[in-house]
Amino acid sequence: PATTTTTTTTTTSALVELLLPESQRDAALAEAHTLPMVVLTEETDWQWLHVLSEGWASPLRGFMREEEYLQCLHFNCIRDADGHVHNQSVAIVLAITDEQRQRIESSGQDAFALSLSAQPERPVAIVRRPEFYVHNKEERCARQLGTTHAGHPYAAIIHRSGEWLVGGDVEVLQRFRYGDGLDAYRLTPRDLQAEFRRRGADAVFVFQLRNPIHNGHALLMTSCRDDLLRRGYRNPILLVHQIGGKVKQDDVPLRERILQNQQVIEEGILDPETTLLGIFPSPMMYAGPTEVQWHAKARMNAGCQFYIVGRDPAGIKHPDGERDLFDPWHGKKVLQRAPGLERLEILPFRLAAYDKTAGRMAFFDPSRADDFLFISGTKMRGFAAAGETPPEGFMGKRAWQVLADYYQRKRQA
Ligand code: ADX
Repeated sequence: PATTTTTTTTTTSALVELLLPESQRDAALAEAHTLPMVVLTEETDWQWLHVLSEGWASPLRGFMREEEYLQCLHFNCIRDADGHVHNQSVAIVLAITDEQRQRIESSGQDAFALSLSAQPERPVAIVRRPEFYVHNKEERCARQLGTTHAGHPYAAIIHRSGEWLVGGDVEVLQRFRYGDGLDAYRLTPRDLQAEFRRRGADAVFVFQLRNPIHNGHALLMTSCRDDLLRRGYRNPILLVHQIGGKVKQDDVPLRERILQNQQVIEEGILDPETTLLGIFPSPMMYAGPTEVQWHAKARMNAGCQFYIVGRDPAGIKHPDGERDLFDPWHGKKVLQRAPGLERLEILPFRLAAYDKTAGRMAFFDPSRADDFLFISGTKMRGFAAAGETPPEGFMGKRAWQVLADYYQRKRQA
């Protein structure tokens, strides 16, 4: 029989960090002051710069050029110069206005500088060999988010951004620090890899989230650990990885999520010895099965081997109503087949819900559906805002208190 050969291979990619070595920063900063400046006003723009700078999106060397953007939109993957295929399901692009484009082009320079709105005079990065292309927002939203609806939180960001995209190689001049008391949790992929080595991990499994941890989430994580131990791993380390970038308005803010997660760990709901809490700098896109690939790929770059996924990852309600925008089980199915993620083992989980007969969170059993209670984020916020407590066993007591306090403060504000 004829054999087919394929030139497409997947690879263990090196981490591509864009932060310049310290020895080169002064000269680059001096040069940056001579270049046209683009001030990043949108929070998500500087969060993407942060993501790029630390190598989460390796092998990207900067904001996507048109060729990368097209591969990303149409294949959810990017092929590097050696023919290796890397998963890259979400566009990491920089949108600018026509006025900004003209200013860069008329400067006659082959580079421009970036600064953040808090300190617009201070360059934080240089973009080299810029390439401009049209920002077709409707197409980008439709392909990446599955909707162009302006009520979708990330579509809204795209709709108000500039009409041009500019790709180019990025050099970052300083490490990202937020000064919000949470920087110690912002471990880079390099930091994480070193920490996993220091702890002698023989398996690293990661839980991506943008919510407080209830005991259903904890059940996924502890079951996963038990499975790994049964498979013969001796020291599996769990990375609880909170989204650190922009989330939608009614999600719990990062600070409260981290405080709540700390309580879950201190209460022993997750083992303090083998759990590491960290912040992933990406913004949330609410792009469901498309985005969950990004969540997994970035953690693979940070040295994780196992990725937990359950119901409706990166999901959201349809902006028009109550139905889920994405089929809640598509994320899991897509992830298990996604090209470029072969180095990562996906650990799929069933639905967890509150079992009223047992008084705890358990895996949903459809044969006795009436015994289960689904406590959505909205319901949880409802309890907290009304000063009520959720059923015993839904969440650790001290962990719940963090949320109750937050919603109380919010109500009084
Ligand atoms: S996400 O947007 O970051 O994916 P979230 O914080 O809600 O969302 O969920 C984190 C992880 O837990 C995802 O893998 C999600 O599929 C899973 N998950 C959340 N709730 C449940 C549940 N009730 N049952 C099973 N898996 C769940």
